[in-house]
Amino acid sequence: MKIDRDKYRANLTRYTRRALQALPDLDHPKILDIGCGSGVPSLELARLTNGKIIGVDHDAVALKKFKNKAIEAGYGNRIETMLISMEGMPFKDESFDIVWSEGSIAFIGFEKGLVEWKRLVKPGGYIVIHDELGNIDKKKQQIREAGYYLLDHFILNENVWWDEYYEHLSKELGEHYEDGALTLEGEALEIFKEIEMYHKEPEWNRSVYFVLQKLKR
Ligand SMILES: C[S@@+](CC[C@H](N)C(=O)[O-])C[C@H]1O[C@@H](n2cnc3c(N)ncnc32)[C@H](O)[C@@H]1O
Repeated sequence: MKIDRDKYRANLTRYTRRALQALPDLDHPKILDIGCGSGVPSLELARLTNGKIIGVDHDAVALKKFKNKAIEAGYGNRIETMLISMEGMPFKDESFDIVWSEGSIAFIGFEKGLVEWKRLVKPGGYIVIHDELGNIDKKKQQIREAGYYLLDHFILNENVWWDEYYEHLSKELGEHYEDGALTLEGEALEIFKEIEMYHKEPEWNRSVYFVLQKLKR
């Protein structure tokens, strides 16, 4: 069975919008989306700004899907995808007005991401990170120590993730849910496992958006 999780991931773009609203209006911003996947947040950023967006990810299938959606939506000339790792990205220092990263910084580590990605942002530019909620006080301290000003942050609780995402996915699985582990495969099995995890520890699904400004030297 085929389930398009992007359809429901898109429900959460209202929080991408909210985070963007915490920034001043920027004309033709250059935006880097790190760990962009199939591009749900990037497409929203393309819709809300007149900027150019580079999405990087190491998943070729997700990037192809993203590029196709960008072309279909008429953003083909403003969105570029690059199949690279988020570690050691080949961009010059201070190339971007905004670095955006949703659901991805944990792969490199929160503190390491903050420190390594900082060079990519112009002085006074912005980093927006959507991450799991755990260790929020420690993360706030790491933000300060890495040389950012915390402009805003807000939390999505576990109900948001259920109401806007997992509930829809579980409805898609429908009758297959009962014997899911035995009969499902591929993406549907992954989704089944995620929903099981959700039910086991709902509060682990809380997440937080951090909106940061890189301090000017
Ligand atoms: C949870 S998904 C988030 C996708 C997208 N940002 C979103 O919010 O819908 C995490 C993404 O990080 C990517 N990723 C994980 N490790 C990576 C790495 N070392 N380099 C580049 N991308 C990576 C995965 O391929 C995946 O697309």
